[in-house]
Amino acid sequence: MSLNTPEPTIQSYLPLLGDMSRKRPIAYQASRGAVKIFNALQMAVAESYINGLEVPDSVLRSLFDTCMPILFKHFPSLLAPYDWVLNETDHVAEGSQDLMKVQYDLPQKMFKLMLGDWDLMYPKYTMALWERGATDLEQAQMHMIDDAIEKLGIQDGDHVLDVGCGWAAVPNYVMSKFPNVRFTGLSLSHEQCEDVRHRMADPKSYLSSDRFTLVEGDFNTIQFEEKFDKVLSMGVFCHVGNLTHGFEKIASFLKPKGQFFLHIITVRLPNNVSSVYTHRYIFPHGRYWMFDAPPARNQHLTTVKRWYMNGNNYSKTFASWLQRFDDHYDDIKDLDYGIDFLKFRRIWRFYLIWFVSNFASCDGDINGNGQFLMTLT
Ligand SMILES: C[S@@+](CC[C@H](N)C(=O)[O-])C[C@H]1O[C@@H](n2cnc3c(N)ncnc32)[C@H](O)[C@@H]1O
Repeated sequence: MSLNTPEPTIQSYLPLLGDMSRKRPIAYQASRGAVKIFNALQMAVAESYINGLEVPDSVLRSLFDTCMPILFKHFPSLLAPYDWVLNETDHVAEGSQDLMKVQYDLPQKMFKLMLGDWDLMYPKYTMALWERGATDLEQAQMHMIDDAIEKLGIQDGDHVLDVGCGWAAVPNYVMSKFPNVRFTGLSLSHEQCEDVRHRMADPKSYLSSDRFTLVEGDFNTIQFEEKFDKVLSMGVFCHVGNLTHGFEKIASFLKPKGQFFLHIITVRLPNNVSSVYTHRYIFPHGRYWMFDAPPARNQHLTTVKRWYMNGNNYSKTFASWLQRFDDHYDDIKDLDYGIDFLKFRRIWRFYLIWFVSNFASCDGDINGNGQFLMTLT
């Protein structure tokens, strides 16, 4: 099967009201009206919770566990919250500064305690790989990076660019395995970059060697003089609203025959999904591309392989983060979130509990992560 097949669109598959290709535009408008009602309902439930409605975790979980499979299987079109989610955006990534404010520039201590921070394995804010027998989060995160090294075929001596490097967990771990690999890490989050700079000043960190370069900048506008052997990006393209231009940019960073490894949340639904709740409180402008979208929009690269990573891996990762978030209550409660901590805690617990269920729905077969190996031809 060709990997570059066109993706189906919401107009050609809309179970809510039947096959839209045979219906008049008014039916499409009606379905978008239904989405508005669904969104208002979703927000009412979420905001009641975050404003203090006491709901035991078990009840919240049962609600998600019951609703998500029904929505995935029968009403996926309700999960495309805005019409703009169905189209590519003008910018490569929309609203990047909003995203930093709402998400990545939050107190770094909170992220480090929630995600885990070990001698070699720095905080990693993407799916861990549990299905290879990992017994804890640290090991599961290492297994995921080992898997990425293998799939991307990193070789000693490569110069690799990590687009959206977070706390540089991947560069630090990979450089520990390969004495001559060089890494450049790009992140727009000033607070994350400050944390990485501290690590670069620590002689025990692999980031302290001259093999690592940090660039604080925006993927939308960044240019590099040097070309890279390999580029990887984990958990970033859910912030990219224009895959076509995003891949064009990646292609411009690569040496001839260079390779790109993309890891993102993907859904096996007929359209891109997202949620009004996460847009407002967690990831502004975020979206979950369908698994078929990257190969269909990579005119500037060729997708040579792709892998669907079962959502249960991410559900288990979110469950670990939720547990750590709760366990470290006393250490994180006095940090500056810009709002009252108890409200912040409810916003984040709603997100974490929801995502534990979301990725486990339908046994992880619909909402998981996608990995794509692309080459410059
Ligand atoms: C979910 S985190 C993943 C971090 C890291 N790859 C990992 O696996 O832990 C997403 C990362 O993308 C970065 N990012 C988001 N939008 C960006 C943009 N427009 N330009 C550069 N970095 C961006 C964030 O700062 C953050 O580091």
